[in-house]
Amino acid sequence: MTRFPAIFGVFLGLFFMLYMLSLEAQSEQKKGQPIEADMAMREYMVDISKQLGVSCNYCHNVNNYKDTSMPTYAISKQHMRIVHMLNTEGFVGKNAMKVDCYMCHQGRAKFKYKMPKD
Ligand code: HEC
Ligand code: HEC
Repeated sequence: MTRFPAIFGVFLGLFFMLYMLSLEAQSEQKKGQPIEADMAMREYMVDISKQLGVSCNYCHNVNNYKDTSMPTYAISKQHMRIVHMLNTEGFVGKNAMKVDCYMCHQGRAKFKYKMPKD
C-alpha cells in the first residue's frame, strides 16, 4: 500500500503531460498549422503511403488536406472499406492475418492483378 501514492503520481504526471500535449495541439490547430493534430491519422497515412510506394501528393492536394477531389483519394476510401471488410468479415479466424493495403499493393500504387494470358 505504501507504493500506491508513487504510482498514482506517475499516472497523474502522465495525464498532465497528455493534457498539455492536447492543449498544444489545439492551439496549433487554431493557428492554422498545415496538418491537424490527429497523430493516429498521420501514422496511418504514413503507413498507407509506404504500402503503396507513394507520397502524400498522390492522393492529396498538399496545400489543402480538406480538399477531397482527387480520384486516387476516392479509390483509397473504397479500398479502405475493402480492407476493413476483410478484417472484420473475411479473415476472422483465431490466427487470422491482419489485412492492409500491402497485401495486394506490395509497395506499388499500380500493380499487375490479373493472371497473364499465355
Ligand atoms: C493512397 C492515398 C493516400 C495517401 C498516399 C495519403 N493519404 Fe491522407 N487520406 C487519404 C484518404 C482516403 C483519407 C480519408 C480517410 C478517412 O476518411 O478515414 C485521408 C485523410 C487524411 C487526413 C485527414 C483529413 C481530414 O479531413 O481530417 C490527413 C491530414 C491526411 N490524410 C494527411 C496525409 C499525409 C500527411 C500523407 C502523407 C504522409 C497522406 N495523407 C497520404 C488518402 C491518402
Ligand atoms: C484486395 C486487394 C486490394 C487491397 C487490400 C487494396 N487495394 Fe487498392 N487496388 C487494388 C486493385 C486490384 C487496384 C487496381 C484496380 C482498381 O483501381 O480498382 C487498386 C488500385 C488502387 C488505387 C488506384 C491506383 C492508380 O493510380 O490507378 C489506389 C489509390 C488504391 N488502390 C489505394 C489502396 C489503399 C489506400 C489501400 C489500403 C487501405 C488499398 N488500395 C488496398 C486492390 C487492392
